[in-house]
Amino acid sequence: MSRQLGVGLYGAGNIVHDGHAPAVAAGVSTRLAAVCDIDEARARTLADAYGGANIYTSLDKMLADPSVDIVIMATPNNLHRRDFEACARAGKHVLCEKPLAVTYPDAIAMARIAEEHKIVLKTGFNQRYLNQIRMAKLAIEAGLIGEVFSFRTVFSAKWDNWVDGSNFRWDLERSGGATTNDNLIHRFDMLRYLLDDDYAEVVADVSHCVIPPVVDDNVHLMVRTNKGARGSFIADRYSPVLGDATELYGTKGSLSFWTNAGSPFFDVPLAINTTVPMNELPEPISKAVYPTARSKQNRHAWDGWLSIWPPRNEWDTYAEQLAGMAEEILSGTRDGIGATGFDGARATELVHAAYSSQIARAWVSLPLADDAPFAFPDFEGHGYDAKAGRS
Ligand SMILES: NC(=O)c1ccc[n+]([C@@H]2O[C@H](COP(=O)([O-])OP(=O)(O)OC[C@H]3O[C@@H](n4cnc5c(N)ncnc54)[C@H](O)[C@@H]3O)[C@@H](O)[C@H]2O)c1
Repeated sequence: MSRQLGVGLYGAGNIVHDGHAPAVAAGVSTRLAAVCDIDEARARTLADAYGGANIYTSLDKMLADPSVDIVIMATPNNLHRRDFEACARAGKHVLCEKPLAVTYPDAIAMARIAEEHKIVLKTGFNQRYLNQIRMAKLAIEAGLIGEVFSFRTVFSAKWDNWVDGSNFRWDLERSGGATTNDNLIHRFDMLRYLLDDDYAEVVADVSHCVIPPVVDDNVHLMVRTNKGARGSFIADRYSPVLGDATELYGTKGSLSFWTNAGSPFFDVPLAINTTVPMNELPEPISKAVYPTARSKQNRHAWDGWLSIWPPRNEWDTYAEQLAGMAEEILSGTRDGIGATGFDGARATELVHAAYSSQIARAWVSLPLADDAPFAFPDFEGHGYDAKAGRS
């Protein structure tokens, strides 16, 4: 068996519990070496659940542990930049949870520090590994929908659906935002990944309307990309998920996928409309078309529509993400799916630019300067008072 990489979990909160710790245990080339959290009991409970590991309450001590090769950083967002630098100096590879940082200057600095110290830095955009996203990427690359000039995406998630252990999301300074920087940032990455494109301009309405903490809970963005596509991003944090679809409109067809919603309207994970005949579809797609009889007997899909039901792999995405990173460290082969530090910085850049647009009430051009000034929009006084009506 090839070398196993020791993983140090930094932060033993919810996403480590649900996603990263099982991923480390499932990996053939990874093993759990250490767990570090300011809450020692939390670190110990997690380590014990996986057969034991070194326990730390200080990052510096974990970084001095030679059995740790990779640090999975899953602490509140405002700590990522500072702590990443310590990891890089110690020569540890880092899988940093999204968002890489709160501001674009911090995020781009992290990507550059990784290069300087020759360590692998990955950003935890695990949703790239969802099977329906892999197939959407394949469909776009195979030309099934032609050139995309328009897209729209929705991400609603009620604020008390995901309970984090340290309650950091509702504190702007610690999270950098509860909707744009927490959820919508997944889509910022996903769209630029799928389209192999970058954002050129954004205009945003980032507001606080409903929930008790004064954070962004209702967000609308319009963007233009370098290749000329126009798109809109809509997200809220006050309502249960109704739809979380992403739709791409191309010159030869269109596609729509759902990410991980559990609403009754979550029907087909990926739907493609294309003029490409069935027998010319890339194999993973033709195998996942439902019903299969249609793909075997008809050259063309009914009215051009293909319903794709890939195997569901929501929680396996963490293992696939880590396996790709481990392979890259061990063999030097770049994992083609995983988001790099620069990918993470580009997504943070759109959050930063959206806030700047809200403050300026104007379109903002990208790329931003490496030292672009950052400020939070003023959410105070823009909320909804149920008794008084709109303030
Ligand atoms: N990829 C995804 O879809 C996804 C999903 C959820 C969370 N996340 C990201 O993971 C990170 C953690 O989120 P969570 O929901 O697990 O939060 P959480 O509050 O449940 O966990 C954070 C942990 O960090 C610990 N911590 C806080 N300050 C610390 C410090 N100074 N030193 C050491 N430990 C410290 C806390 O004790 C807690 O155990 C965030 O960056 C979040 O954006 C990503």
